[in-house]
Amino acid sequence: MQLLDGTACSQQIRKEIATEVEALITQGKRAPHLAAVLVGDDGASQNYVGMKVRDCEEVGFGSTTIRLDANTTEDELLAKIAELNAYDGIDGFIVQLPLPPQIDENKVILAIDPSKDVDGFCPENVGNLSLGLPTFISATPNGIMELLRRYKVETEGKHCVVLGRSNIVGTPMAVLMSRNTNPGNATVTIAHSRTKNLKEVCLSADILIVAIGKTEFVTADMVKPGAVVIDVGQTRVPDSSRKSGFRNVGDVDFENVKDKCSYITYVTGGVGPMTRASLLQNTLKACQRRSNS
Ligand code: GUN
Repeated sequence: MQLLDGTACSQQIRKEIATEVEALITQGKRAPHLAAVLVGDDGASQNYVGMKVRDCEEVGFGSTTIRLDANTTEDELLAKIAELNAYDGIDGFIVQLPLPPQIDENKVILAIDPSKDVDGFCPENVGNLSLGLPTFISATPNGIMELLRRYKVETEGKHCVVLGRSNIVGTPMAVLMSRNTNPGNATVTIAHSRTKNLKEVCLSADILIVAIGKTEFVTADMVKPGAVVIDVGQTRVPDSSRKSGFRNVGDVDFENVKDKCSYITYVTGGVGPMTRASLLQNTLKACQRRSNS
């Protein structure tokens, strides 16, 4: 079994991005700038946004965090998005999800200028992804592709089962793995909560990508010997032995699954850091596009 080390891989990507930022500065251009909008006080979201800001600092990007009260109205958030769309000093921005219940996530996503949508969530970017046109690819699936690419994991002709069909992870992941690219060229099945014989479907996977949001859902009896297993899950569970009072648990029963695999990711040093690195890549791309347009 080989661990797909997202921490090490993302460190390398951050180094590469930092070098590109230095080159931009040498050319007299300004550094890329990412803004993150955080609505409310969800602990996990605060943590994620904090990490994204630290990543920006590490590679030499500018960053702005916009914190809005949990009672923010949809109109107030849409007005903030319009401001960010119009402001030239910001190359890309994200609105951290989930949002409080009074705000319609779809309306928010539709309001973001596609050229600044570094999350790759808006219809134009999702459509471009489906058509194989230049786009911002959603950070988690893009990070997984990068991890497979850098570890030279063979995907062509393999059966890839994607467990989960979210707009952010499962659906774009399936599109990317089925495309005529390397990595890619896999035969893809999307499985979800209504899939019959889920265990058998998972057992038929050469590559199993799990984004179902249920802790330790995939057990050893669901994994084919020699499979590649990618765990996207990251759920906080209470843990009084930790200073934070919680630990992050994946969707895969890592301890019992790992010895059956050829490759496996570990929570939190697998997909999480790769997702953050992808956001930096998208922000750099947004900045480069703007300075070339
Ligand atoms: N919440 C969980 N993952 C993400 C992400 O990739 N982007 C945003 N904006 N919110 C998230």
